[in-house]
Amino acid sequence: MPLHLVEHPLVHAILAELRDEGTPPEAFRRLANRISVLLAAEALRELPTETITVKTPLADAPGRRIGRDVVVVPVLRAGLGMLDAVLQLLPDARVGHIGLQRDELTAIASQYYSKLPPSLESSYVLMIDPMLATGGSAVAAIDLLRRAGANNIRIVCIVAAPEGVELVERHHPDVHIYTPVVDIKLNAHKYIVPGLGDFGDRLYGTL
Ligand code: PRP
Ligand code: URA
Repeated sequence: MPLHLVEHPLVHAILAELRDEGTPPEAFRRLANRISVLLAAEALRELPTETITVKTPLADAPGRRIGRDVVVVPVLRAGLGMLDAVLQLLPDARVGHIGLQRDELTAIASQYYSKLPPSLESSYVLMIDPMLATGGSAVAAIDLLRRAGANNIRIVCIVAAPEGVELVERHHPDVHIYTPVVDIKLNAHKYIVPGLGDFGDRLYGTL
């Protein structure tokens, strides 16, 4: 089952602060960055490495370096709140952008932007989008990445709903999902309950 529930206590302490309706945008952005570092580290656990030798002041020591091209793909706009965290861990990662916007009434996502790096076939692709609700945005973004040649895709999110996990698993059973939590349900407006509200609006103060 490609669903990875990240149990780290720091992740869950940060998540509680993100959920809190009293957390203002400045703190929300900082917390989003901190939780994303921890989640991305987990999603990069299977990243291949190459053996190297480094010289310490005393002797040669065996070491490892990252052995695979990594492409990080934030889904705009909320995914941008997770990007700096991944780039702190992997400054050399290439970055692609996918712009998707859910319709306020139907919750159906439509694409308004896409710019991906070339040659994704052998890359380790980390798609970052904090909210996996109906799963419509994630499936649309994965479809696009696949059409661009990506074979090895992982999704990192901060809150997921059962409906979103199920949709991604049905359409893309080989895509791994990393999340601290799968919440109870979606409400009538397709927001995650209890969730944390609209992530993009809370991140950028556009409530
Ligand atoms: C949010 C979120 C996901 C999407 C999840 O973005 O960041 O991309 O909704 O919902 P889904 O699983 O039902 O598709 P939104 O469309 O609100 O745009 P924003 O990031 O610009 O705020
Ligand atoms: N997008 C959000 O930002 N929050 C939700 O609960 C669902 C979609």
